[in-house]
Amino acid sequence: MKTSSLELPRLSQKDLLCTSALPTTDIERIFTTARTLKAGREVHTAVLQHKRLAMIFEKDSLRTRFTFDIGMQDLGGSATFMDHRDAKLGSRESVKDMAKNLERWVHAIVARTFKHKVLEELAMHTKIPVINGLSDFVHPCQALSDFFTLTEKWGSVKGRTLTYVGDGNNTCHALIHTAVKLGTNIRVCSPEGYEPNSRVVNEAMRAAQETGAEVTILNDPDAAADGADAIYTDVWASMGQEDEIEERNGVFAAYQVDEDMMARAKPDALFMHCLPAHRGWEVTQEVMDGPQSVVYDIAENRLHVQKAVLALLIR
Ligand code: CP
Ligand code: NVA
Repeated sequence: MKTSSLELPRLSQKDLLCTSALPTTDIERIFTTARTLKAGREVHTAVLQHKRLAMIFEKDSLRTRFTFDIGMQDLGGSATFMDHRDAKLGSRESVKDMAKNLERWVHAIVARTFKHKVLEELAMHTKIPVINGLSDFVHPCQALSDFFTLTEKWGSVKGRTLTYVGDGNNTCHALIHTAVKLGTNIRVCSPEGYEPNSRVVNEAMRAAQETGAEVTILNDPDAAADGADAIYTDVWASMGQEDEIEERNGVFAAYQVDEDMMARAKPDALFMHCLPAHRGWEVTQEVMDGPQSVVYDIAENRLHVQKAVLALLIR
């Protein structure tokens, strides 16, 4: 294995629970490192040699699980997965005890939970970094990969307009948090009653004053799509909301991203989705598989961005 010459300045935070807690300089540092790692994968294989990652998931995953696991291997470390889908964290022993045990064996934890508070509790009780692999509240690694992809496509994301159409969920919250840090205008368009958390929106509007970003919440998909630089959507029913699928399919029907909606955006507008996607529901097959779709670029970048996060957080 080659020894790395990669510069790895610490992030200002111990954990990555929410991008709202990251200063813009930390986000830029993650992007710079991700760019270097992506460009020269073979050169940096010893960055996390002998470091171990615990991965604890209460929900299904393809992308997050694979990319963190492969990411650790790429950097010379290892990852151990613990399936917690049958028993929520804290049910067998306290979250605090889990954190106190894990820090004796591993150098970081990635957790995917229902309750965001469980992540905060894990982080509070351990000195090692805790990374949010998705909670009901936010999906920060996703938003970092989304915006990293946009920087690759556009150069600068400042002053561009990203429209999110659909449920005001974890993915949406993370996009709002991250957009305002980077000066990207964010429009969120949801059916009434499914808007993003008002505290997230209000805090984002305050944060946006520093970067000049605009935060717009609306219910009209046509107005939301008009002149946008990118259109993003996510599933209408998130993990844990399976009982609501039928009801939601009705409520969200007018919010499907189709070719007509894409035609309202800029001619070179990008289509984005965190995946998994349901063709024929939140997005049509034509858009999902069409030339404007960057969904697999985003999925690839989960690997590079999370490697950067691991390299910058683990000591
Ligand atoms: N986008 C995303 O987080 O995918 P997984 O649920 O497959 O990890
Ligand atoms: N909002 C979705 C995102 C999946 C990556 C969910 O929580 O299921």
